[in-house]
Amino acid sequence: MSESEKTGGIVILDFGSQYTQLIARRVREFEVYSEILPWTSPLDRIMESNPRGIILSGGPRSAIGLDAPSIDASLLDGSIPVLGICYGMQLIAHSLGGRVERGRLGEYGRTRVIFSPHSASALLKGVPDKIDVWMSHWDEVASPPNGAVKFAASESETCAAFSMLGGRVQGLQFHPEVESTEYGREILKNFIFDICGASPLWKLGNWVERASWLVSESVGETARVICGLSGGVDSTVAAVLVSRVIGDRLDCIFVDHGFLRKDESSQVMEMYKKLNLRVHHVDASDRFLDALSGVTNPEQKRKIIGELFVRVFEDESRKLGNAKWLLQGTIYPDVIESGSAGGDVIKSHHNVGGLPEDMDMKLLEPLRELFKDEVRKIGPLLDIPDHFLKRHPFPGPGLAVRCLGPLGRERLDTLREADAIFISEITAAGLYDSIWQAFCVLLPVRSVGVAGDVRTYCETVALRAVASLDAMTAESVRLPWEVIDRTASRICGEVPNVGRVVMDVTGKPPSTIEWE
Ligand code: XMP
Repeated sequence: MSESEKTGGIVILDFGSQYTQLIARRVREFEVYSEILPWTSPLDRIMESNPRGIILSGGPRSAIGLDAPSIDASLLDGSIPVLGICYGMQLIAHSLGGRVERGRLGEYGRTRVIFSPHSASALLKGVPDKIDVWMSHWDEVASPPNGAVKFAASESETCAAFSMLGGRVQGLQFHPEVESTEYGREILKNFIFDICGASPLWKLGNWVERASWLVSESVGETARVICGLSGGVDSTVAAVLVSRVIGDRLDCIFVDHGFLRKDESSQVMEMYKKLNLRVHHVDASDRFLDALSGVTNPEQKRKIIGELFVRVFEDESRKLGNAKWLLQGTIYPDVIESGSAGGDVIKSHHNVGGLPEDMDMKLLEPLRELFKDEVRKIGPLLDIPDHFLKRHPFPGPGLAVRCLGPLGRERLDTLREADAIFISEITAAGLYDSIWQAFCVLLPVRSVGVAGDVRTYCETVALRAVASLDAMTAESVRLPWEVIDRTASRICGEVPNVGRVVMDVTGKPPSTIEWE
């Protein structure tokens, strides 16, 4: 990374919020370099990055609790603009003599915020007087520090924003980084450009060059790399990037773990031929199914699959001549949701939290800091065809986390057939490309039905279709009724052992996209 791109960026001090990486991503959407540092980073380390501005993230702790995460008070003297979000705002208030209290009810979800009339904050350029924002807090700022101007409140009169030191230090109780906050992007943009004076120097095109250089430095001139290819966008982009750097020292392994979708194995192998990658197909379905026999706990499933993946890679790697590196298409959300960024473990993504400790190979994860949409933008720069990049995301553990209850060949086949019908109906309706992800889930819930005058007692399929930009948050897609109706009757008519079809209309949060 060149110094000019790096300096003059925004440093985000992470207090453990689920949204920290999202803040970083929003900043990068404006082509400004952003870097996440843990709140424990020494002042020297923060200054080394020469930030134009600092954002203090939210976090699960209380600023008035014992051993509350804090920062060096000199960061709040106004010499560098600071924006505190949620916990970050409460921390500023508490550190500078304001009063933070446990709120009576807290605020969670979409909340109306009203800005003070004629508020002079440069943060609000182009933002209306009232907006709906995303709140998620218990503590609140009961009185801002001396000299601070409160410039927003929610309808319950809770302080929603304050500004001090001529706008060089500001706090927002709500999350401008979250999609559900109206004008969130404008607020961040105003902070980044108008208040911090940052410049848009960080370009994804340069990322390819930088990442290639880093790969070449890490791997060196002789080591071999193997890559677990899943057929998805992330591992494919990672493989094409690395193959361009190290050529035929890369071997890719496509593991059929028995949890793939209908015809996926053959379709994916066909596609890889066109990308000039050397791909070895391994049918390990018996091994995976045996290991998962009788396992229904989601976390246990993920850990077993994560470990077995690596064992299969290790076996293949030995056959191929001992690779030193295991290349994975791990992206930011995998890291965040597996708790590696300091937050709560939501679910162990098979390629992060599920890795065994005694692994033989070193991990190569060039996409670890990118979000899905960034990876998709990099695809064309590596000449990966569009239709490949538009495939819906599919979790590494595959249908294993969509087949709730006991995993067996018959139930997996049922799910595969139902899923293929749903996807074909969505595709026929011309909706596939506009949906982030659509899939079926097989539920171990039996209900009574009738088929040709005969009583049935069969399992249930749930349909799920979500819209999202980054998989961090998602909304249920309002599919046309005819599509749902046709899908439901086809599934019940064509797939044995399914007696009922239901639609999952929950967003994320509170649900996750996958059921397990
Ligand atoms: P959740 O269910 O956590 O999913 O809301 C967010 C996105 O990640 C995908 N996902 C995974 N991808 N390995 C992956 O490569 C995994 O273990 C995994 N679990 C979930 C999910 O399909 C969605 O796009």
